[in-house]
Amino acid sequence: MLEDKRILLIISGGIAAYKSLELIRQLRKRGAWVTPVLTKSAKEFVTPLSVSALAEEKAYQDLFDLTDEAEMGHIQLSRSADLVVVAPCTANLMAKMANGLADDLASTLLLATDTQVLVAPAMNVRMWDHPSTQRNLKTLKNDGVAFVGPNEGDMACGEYGPGRLAEPAEIVAAVESQLAEGPLTGRRILVTSGPTHEPIDPVRYIANRSSGAQGTAIARALVLLGADVIFVTGPADEPRPEGAHIVEVETAKDMMEAVNKVLPVDAAVFAAAVADWNVVGASDQKIKKQAGKIPSLNFSENPDILATISQLEKDRPQLVVGFAAETNDVVENATKKRLRKACDWIVANDVSPETGIMGGRENAVILISDEGAEHWPRMGKDLVARQLAERIAQALG
Ligand code: C5P
Repeated sequence: MLEDKRILLIISGGIAAYKSLELIRQLRKRGAWVTPVLTKSAKEFVTPLSVSALAEEKAYQDLFDLTDEAEMGHIQLSRSADLVVVAPCTANLMAKMANGLADDLASTLLLATDTQVLVAPAMNVRMWDHPSTQRNLKTLKNDGVAFVGPNEGDMACGEYGPGRLAEPAEIVAAVESQLAEGPLTGRRILVTSGPTHEPIDPVRYIANRSSGAQGTAIARALVLLGADVIFVTGPADEPRPEGAHIVEVETAKDMMEAVNKVLPVDAAVFAAAVADWNVVGASDQKIKKQAGKIPSLNFSENPDILATISQLEKDRPQLVVGFAAETNDVVENATKKRLRKACDWIVANDVSPETGIMGGRENAVILISDEGAEHWPRMGKDLVARQLAERIAQALG
């Protein structure tokens, strides 16, 4: 049920706009309050009168409507909802959102809001497949925007493929899952993941081996428990976790800067395999190979992000979790590491090649806290992530 939840529903222009009427009906039936906003072109497909009659609320249309500004400013309108839903969302509105354009009421609300946004795209299949739309989709997902659909099927334009608006019942289900309360709802959690790349020159770098699989799984598990997750990742192939805010970085210094920017957070999980050193005086031109001449590299130490954040006097997260990838004396080394870094927990694992853990789908971890070492059985990285997320939820209370 959506009893007394407030939905700001933005309807943009497209033949699928007629389904927004059924969507409003179904949301109202579940007890939600719907404030509708129509773009100029949406009015060509559905009338403000029918939208507002079904919503039993005024249908907002124009940014410069002074009466509306007197009743409720656009900033307030954008923030008074529990969820902003854009259905249908055209390719044009997606492009505006991805680029931060605000040239009408709908796009201004989307730029001004601090509320979670759920987008249900609807467009011709070629428009959906177009590299610009796919680029915008990626940008919006990285900004933490959630998506439902589009579905695949026959389209009003006579073509077949992905681009059809999700059915109203599917959109309602997505709304319900967005508004579902989890034990971490309202909690802000930072996760670092992946390797860092430390350049030698523009084409060469040093790095640790890291697929980013465990960090990504942890971010996903935290999102599922309702947390607001900020995922700071180095270059990794693993698809980014949906529903998290993604910050892409390259070097350890970039990662340190990004982490400082997202503070304060309630908890921080440092799963990244940060390179310990960077190359002093990295060349900004490719170093030429010369027969018989081997270049030598000078290193300087990278910031220890985990230790820095664990030892903060102001803004230290309530819970700081580090990782320890060891190849021998795992518990002993990881226990020392917990004390040296001053973090609360260390998730330790044996990454000797024979374990197949590095780059694999499974992990066998030991959780080290002030209560000692707790051995978890070997299991999929997603299960490790789920258990860890649940433990984090318990610890934050
Ligand atoms: O010291 P070591 O690299 O073994 O410690 C591993 C833990 O410290 C991991 O949680 C890793 O993310 C974090 N770390 C860090 N910054 C570094 C090195 C490691 O945050 N420069």
